[in-house]
Amino acid sequence: MSNAVSALSEAVLSGADPGELEACPLPDTYRAAFLRREDQEIFTGAKDKDVRRSIHVGDVPTPELAPDEVLVAVMAAAVNYNTVWSATFEPVPTFRFLRDLARHGGWDARHDRDYQVIGSDAAGVVVRVGAAVRHWKAGDKVVIAPPVIDEQESGAQQDGMLSSRQLAWGFETNFGAFGDYALVRATQLVRKPAHLTWEEAACNTLCLGTAYRMLIGDHGARIKMGDVVLIWGATGGLGAYAVQLVLRAGGIPVGVVGSADKADLLDRLGCRHVINRQELGFTDGGAEADSTQAWRELGSAIRKRVGEDPHVVFEHVGRNTFGASVFVARRGGVVVTCGSSTGYTHQYDNRYLWMKLKRVIGSHGANYHESVEANRLLELGLIVPALSRVHPFEQVAEATRAVQLNTHAGKVGVLCLAPREGLGVDDPLLREQVGEERLRTFRDHASC
Ligand SMILES: NC(=O)c1ccc[n+]([C@@H]2O[C@H](COP(=O)([O-])OP(=O)(O)OC[C@H]3O[C@@H](n4cnc5c(N)ncnc54)[C@H](OP(=O)(O)O)[C@@H]3O)[C@@H](O)[C@H]2O)c1
Repeated sequence: MSNAVSALSEAVLSGADPGELEACPLPDTYRAAFLRREDQEIFTGAKDKDVRRSIHVGDVPTPELAPDEVLVAVMAAAVNYNTVWSATFEPVPTFRFLRDLARHGGWDARHDRDYQVIGSDAAGVVVRVGAAVRHWKAGDKVVIAPPVIDEQESGAQQDGMLSSRQLAWGFETNFGAFGDYALVRATQLVRKPAHLTWEEAACNTLCLGTAYRMLIGDHGARIKMGDVVLIWGATGGLGAYAVQLVLRAGGIPVGVVGSADKADLLDRLGCRHVINRQELGFTDGGAEADSTQAWRELGSAIRKRVGEDPHVVFEHVGRNTFGASVFVARRGGVVVTCGSSTGYTHQYDNRYLWMKLKRVIGSHGANYHESVEANRLLELGLIVPALSRVHPFEQVAEATRAVQLNTHAGKVGVLCLAPREGLGVDDPLLREQVGEERLRTFRDHASC
């Protein structure tokens, strides 16, 4: 790395004031984790698309800043499932998104490179703002919301996620979270919760925001007090926040997990109704996808635990579970879905949908307002980070591999510029009030 990188990084780490940060020259290059265009075919025919083969760490050029953009010195980042998708080049290589983006010309052309810096969750310090940025300045401590929204597009005025040029940062764009610096739109910035460490702050925005929109926001299931909510993958990235949101909203979460250890973790999170899917035949093989027998057993297991059917089913597993989700939702109930980890083509028995007047809601990410509202719940200490473990930067690929193999729980963090864990807390009093033990719910647990 160049000396300029060190100078700016040192200024950030020493808490330099805005003027000092702006006076530091930008580095020509920075350390990042990236995919290479030339690797797009390496998994052809491979049984195990091991992401450690496709994720590389090295220096990349610092991109030029557009007027509505901000350069952030990244202190910590976190793995999301979308990095598994991009690093396995599935369902399509994300280099295609970069090429499509570049077709718009202008500043968008910068994104189409032979490498893609990946990652969609980060916390850090603003070091430069573009000339058109109004609400942020150098030195601000921020977390980054992944949706890149074109606010000049009319749909965005109704709901940012309805903007036809809405993109996921570090997945459908370049210059993502896994680097010492990241390039983002000003409309992605959210204030860092002052009581959290850098790595705790970095892991929430994507999954918490998505779960917030699915369950609480105006565009999702809009749960209310007393609602029974079935949550697949209840200790996973999304599920860990979904459980907390349902509990805080006065609902009754029924968490599905894949092991006894994760069942114990769920109990620790305050979820009293737990189903181990392995015991009901919902294995990873997929046979349960079309098995009405398995669906019925799941329905019975839920009734046995709570005495009634779910008002809402929180879906993201896809093909293996979608039929069951439609089946077990109560008359007039809702299946809200944002993903399909086990396959995009779902089968379900439509009689159970139409005859019982159920609804399916598609959901994606969170608009800016929802991201800010979800972050507010963190700031109030109502929701705690689901961070389970943290890796040094050189192990980004190893961290992503854990998510690929489902050997993780909650969120897996990565340190970027932060030299060690535990830094970045500006409000120790609030931290004490929220409680160290609650903040460490996912840390040091057997399933993590
Ligand atoms: N559209 C959006 O905005 C958006 C946002 C975030 C995530 N997503 C998508 O949502 C999905 C989940 O994301 P995540 O961050 O929660 O991932 P994650 O951290 O890997 O958690 C997923 C959970 O799913 C469960 N699971 C895995 N295989 C399963 C199977 N065969 N049957 C039932 N459950 C299974 C696992 O729990 P157990 O093994 O304990 O059951 C795991 O904890 C991904 O496909 C991701 O791309 C979409």
